[in-house]
Amino acid sequence: MRILLVVAHPRTQSLTHAAADAFAEAATAAGHTIEWADLMAEGFDPVLREADEPDWSNATKAYSPAVEAEMARIRRNEATVMVFPVWWWSMPALLKGWIDRVWNNGFAYGDASYPHARALMIGVAGTDEKAYQKRGYDQAMQTALETGILGYCRIADGRLELLYGSMDGEAADALIIARARELGAAF
Ligand SMILES: Cc1cc2nc3c(=O)[nH]c(=O)nc-3n(C[C@H](O)[C@H](O)[C@H](O)COP(=O)(O)O)c2cc1C
Repeated sequence: MRILLVVAHPRTQSLTHAAADAFAEAATAAGHTIEWADLMAEGFDPVLREADEPDWSNATKAYSPAVEAEMARIRRNEATVMVFPVWWWSMPALLKGWIDRVWNNGFAYGDASYPHARALMIGVAGTDEKAYQKRGYDQAMQTALETGILGYCRIADGRLELLYGSMDGEAADALIIARARELGAAF
């Protein structure tokens, strides 16, 4: 399968990038091809301006050239995988803005469904699973990201996977990378 691998983190030495690399290596070994979309390195502008506002009365609106190019990049792939750090119990604004602008009316929802039947969000989480469960952050993120975005865009196999404990030291980091590798191998 052709996978668009979207990564949103300011630092290439981050655990998030290491997890994305592990996913990519394992998915490639399993026979998939990867096209990288490193939003920070590419200087993607996450701010939705007037040109990219949905026009509810026009499902075939032409968006800005930058957004049309992102749509073409999605269309030439068959699945989307997004790897990001959990920031404020959600995704970084960089990735949120990519979705705001690119997953637009007539492309991902409205008269259309998102072009891929498979999408995976991998969130690298600072604290552990217990802390997420204590306040319901895990459930809140599943609802907002998995149901509210992937489900809303009618992606049949859309999932959010949280990799917990990135602030718990090297052993926890190794587990996060191993889990990312498993996800790539099983994709
Ligand atoms: C702005 C900001 C907000 C954060 N918010 C959360 C949060 O809500 N929940 C959480 O578990 N970790 C949070 N963290 C910690 C990150 O998830 C953590 O830095 C990341 O998983 C570590 O991996 P990295 O090396 O890829 O940054 C936050 C970090 C930053 C910088």
